[in-house]
Amino acid sequence: MTALSIVGISGSLTNPSRTTVLVDAILKAVAERSGHKTKLLKLSDSAPALFAATSPADVGKDARQFLDLIEGADLLVVGTPVYRASYTGALKHVFDLVDHRRFGSKPVALAATGGSPLHGLVIEHQLRPLFGFLNALTLPTAVYATEGDFSNYAIGSSAIHERIERVANEALIQLTRHSRPASPDAVSPPKAVVA
Ligand SMILES: Cc1cc2nc3c(=O)[nH]c(=O)nc-3n(C[C@H](O)[C@H](O)[C@H](O)COP(=O)(O)O)c2cc1C
Repeated sequence: MTALSIVGISGSLTNPSRTTVLVDAILKAVAERSGHKTKLLKLSDSAPALFAATSPADVGKDARQFLDLIEGADLLVVGTPVYRASYTGALKHVFDLVDHRRFGSKPVALAATGGSPLHGLVIEHQLRPLFGFLNALTLPTAVYATEGDFSNYAIGSSAIHERIERVANEALIQLTRHSRPASPDAVSPPKAVVA
């Protein structure tokens, strides 16, 4: 089996973080199904290195490694806390620095946490359009969890666990498509043309 790169990014700047817990839970569900290893990137660790760059030309070594993992991922899991009715500025900065040409048809699972259930649509109205700009393939199911869905930074809601299962199943479909060898018909001319 070809190794695929499955990368999660948590846009939270705090540690511990509910968002990081949620992204990690999605990564684990995908790993269980696919057998592939996963990598979790945290802006609480990497934001200083990323903010040292104001353009892609300024990016230092640590920030470059971070961006390379995101650009090279076969599947991305992107989570953010809701800050002021949007994703975090730190997460936006990452996607201002990446090479937008590396995201075409990349499967992306979306997740967010917030204090209020009223801000769940931040995923649909802000996060999904960002990945639309990048021509990424966002998975249909997104996961939004509120503070009440966690107990001491553990997910305590069965509804959230169910949505994690759903998004992991959707991710697996995309990964399976990605790793499937091209059918001979896809690379050879149709028989009628050869004859
Ligand atoms: C600066 C700031 C702004 C916030 N703005 C909102 C908001 O507009 N809507 C909301 O539902 N929650 C808001 N929250 C609450 C966080 O989204 C919520 O606590 C989230 O789960 C924190 O995630 P974390 O534990 O991963 O950092 C805000 C929190 C902070 C620190």
